[in-house]
Amino acid sequence: MEIKVHMDSAPNWIAVALFDELPVQSGKTVRYHGLEIALFRFTSGKVHAVQNRCPHKNGVLAEGLVCDEHVYCPMHERKIHIPSGNVQKPDTGCVQTYETKIENGQVYIALPEEREVAV
Ligand code: FES
Repeated sequence: MEIKVHMDSAPNWIAVALFDELPVQSGKTVRYHGLEIALFRFTSGKVHAVQNRCPHKNGVLAEGLVCDEHVYCPMHERKIHIPSGNVQKPDTGCVQTYETKIENGQVYIALPEEREVAV
């Protein structure tokens, strides 16, 4: 009998922005080795990171209107829940989300270990 062991790779924390430089309830585009990420700082102080492309036709989500925990894609206004990355009904789809942390005023995002090899 074959036993498969799944091992989670440790996150690779990448510094991408200073917390104080992030606009509140708005998006900011950051880039890391060809990866484009939208950062959103909420009024609560939480920072979320998502893939910066709408799953519909690649609208730039960092340029969308932010309302509560949602961003409206600037191209055709699909509504995306930022923390989960889920497109809201009646549309479907999702965007990649990235774990974030803030240390000493610096915002970090977690990339999978293999990303380091791919870039
Ligand atoms: S590209 Fe985002 S809704 Fe069409």
